[in-house]
Formats: sequence, structure tokens, C-alpha cells
Amino acid sequence: MKKYKVGMIGLGTVGTGVFKTIQEFEDIEIVKIVVKNINKKRDIENFDSTLMTTDPNEVINNPEIDIVVEVIGGVEPAWEYISKSIENGKHIVTANKELLAKKGEELFKLAEKNNKVVLYEAAIAGGIPLIMPMKTIMAGNKISKIRGILNGTTNYILTKMDVDGASYDEVLKEAQELGYAETDPTGDVEGFDAMYKITTLSTIAFNKRVKLQNVYREGITKVRAEDMKKANELGYKIKLIASGNLDENGKADVRVHPMLVKKTSALAHIDYVTNSVYLKGFPMGEVAFTGPGAGEFPTASSVVGDIINIVAELKHSDYILPMMRNNYEEYADMIDISETYNKYYISITAPNNIGVIGKIGNVCAERNISLSTILQKGLSEDNTADITIITELCKEADIQSAIKELSECKIDSIIRVEE
Ligand code: HSE
Repeated sequence: MKKYKVGMIGLGTVGTGVFKTIQEFEDIEIVKIVVKNINKKRDIENFDSTLMTTDPNEVINNPEIDIVVEVIGGVEPAWEYISKSIENGKHIVTANKELLAKKGEELFKLAEKNNKVVLYEAAIAGGIPLIMPMKTIMAGNKISKIRGILNGTTNYILTKMDVDGASYDEVLKEAQELGYAETDPTGDVEGFDAMYKITTLSTIAFNKRVKLQNVYREGITKVRAEDMKKANELGYKIKLIASGNLDENGKADVRVHPMLVKKTSALAHIDYVTNSVYLKGFPMGEVAFTGPGAGEFPTASSVVGDIINIVAELKHSDYILPMMRNNYEEYADMIDISETYNKYYISITAPNNIGVIGKIGNVCAERNISLSTILQKGLSEDNTADITIITELCKEADIQSAIKELSECKIDSIIRVEE
């Protein structure tokens, strides 16, 4: 039996899961693994440590390797290793969402030029099969809407804040102790990870390349325990939502930010580290994908699935997986966040002055902002009023201008609300 040869770059959590899983497949063999530290103990039974090397050239320039699996993350040196591997005739399987979002165009052009494929099922929503279904069986659809919870760390933090009534800082600390959040959590909590994922996801969904710099991003660090409590009272949960919309004029609105979602909605029930993605398309209607967005074995499932698909094709053709090639010729026309229409939850600390509610109402009315909820329960000891409003749909630029005008009030939170 011919054995197809795989070289790996990285042997962390995901890489270890890939290594263990691939042992089941007799026609696939891992022949070299690039690691940073060859002396680190690996959690793999009967591991042949001679497979490891610190020299990337032993994979990149190894003529017997058919497929390179990159699971180190980040742009450099991953880009250097991947681009050289493609030029050396290797197919690529990667879990690198940042690289895809930042270098996707170059990467797929280079792959096409060299008649190689780059598969990346594991990069978005880890263990959930999403990219392959979107690129193949859903290809006949015009997708107009994506809503997703694409980051497990932030969903874990928000769920714990909700369940325990705890502050963001308290829960982050606990999540770090449990290994759910990194020591430097910026990539997750400031929304970068979800932004990279929604950039690639909306590129596939809308069949046009979405530029990362046009994607709006806000993380969860400003969400307060008080907001969670108030959202609950008003019938909502707060989630970090990654979304993409394509309007009837073909303009794309792609973003990541916290949102109040109705408790009755499906995304409100996606808790802890679970990921979920809703896609609305014609003719399929609405479909949902839910499952583990990270972790050793779930992510390995996606990486190994990609490897097996490449191997299966290599047995029959030398122009493999044409549906999985990502050469989007056009760029998506994008809408700036200031031009979008949203509902807003705004938590305000106002001085206890006669007419302050009237002032808030007037400032909103002057900008065509209609209020659907207004809540104040008595006064605080420091003679301020804690006022919560929820608006009807209104323009982002008008909300920002209203907030500036309310200079005597302290805006504690402003969070968009799912329609
Ligand atoms: N850090 C990511 C998350 C997993 O928390 O979901 C990898 O993308």
C-alpha cells in the first residue's frame, strides 16, 4: 500500500491530537514534526522522539512529504513555512485563522499557481464541520446572513459572568487558572480571534474577499456584571456575536461585538466553550452548526478530515479538490459601522436633575432615535439615577452623536441588541 507522507509544523495541543488520531490510518504516515523544544515531554504513548526536529527545512524541503500540516498559529514564521512548502509542491492543512484573514489572498493565489490546495476546516469553529459543507454542498446558495459564537474563551467568560453574577475580572482570572483563557488573553477577549474567523467565513459565504481592515471589532472587556443582570431582567443574554450581512445592494456588513440576544433565541443557549454558527441562504433557508470550537480532539478531527480528503483525491487526480480553492476575484463592497442600523442597550448614570429623562428623550428624538424601553428604579445614595434605555433601530452615527450631546451623563455601557 502506498503511504502518503505528512510533515507537521507544531506539536502543541492540536498537533498532539492530530498525531494520535492519524495513527489509525494505515495509508498516512507522519514522517517529521517541527517543534520549538525537542526536550519537552509529549503526552503521546510510545512516541518516537526522532520524528521531531527544530529545523523547519526538514519538512519544507523534504521531497517525500506530500502534505504539510501547520498548527503553530500566528503570521510569522507560519507564512514563511507554508509559502515555501507550497512552492516545494506540498498541499497544506492549517488551523491558522490569523494567517487566513491577513494573508488569505496571497496564500490561495500561490497555492493555485502551484496547483496545490490549502484546507483549513480547523481554523474556524475548531471541531465543527463548516468550511467543507459551505464550499461544497451549500455552493448553490446565496448566503445573506451569518450569526455566530466563534470564540469559546469569551463565551465561557460571559456564561460564567451570567451564571455566577461575577465581574469580568474575576471570571477571567478563574478562566486563566482553569486553562480556558491564555495568560495574555488579548486575542480572545478583545475579539481578534473571532474577527479573523468571521473575515474568512464571510468571504466564503459571500463569494467575495472581505478585507480584514473593514471588519468592525469590539471585545468583551467592558461588559459589566450589572449589564448581565439588567439584560437578564429585560429578557436577554449577552454574547460576543460575530456577524456578516449582505444587503440587497450587495454591500457587506461584517463585525464582531458583544450583543444582547433574546433569551428565546438559539444563540442565547450556546454556553461555555461551545461554538455555534447560523447561516441564512437561499434556497436552503436557515441552518445551524453547533459543537466544540476548540480542544485537542475536536480540532484534530477537522485537521485529520482535511488530510484524508487530500489523500483520497491524490489517489485519483493531480488537480485535486477544485471546489475547495479560494480564489475570490472580487472584493466585497463593505459598509462602515457608522452607517449601519442597530438597536442599542445604553446604561446611563445621570445626575438627579429635574428633566434629565426629558433631556435624554429630546436628544434622542432630535436624531430620530426612538426608545422602546426606559428603566429607572429610584435613586442612588449619591443622588444619581441609574437609567437604562433600549432603542428601536437607529443609525450608529446618530447614537454616537446623541451620546456626545449627553455630556452631563455618564455612559456606563452601550451594547448593540439583536433584532
Ligand atoms: N482561542 C479560541 C477560542 C480557540 O477560545 O475559541 C481557537 O480558535
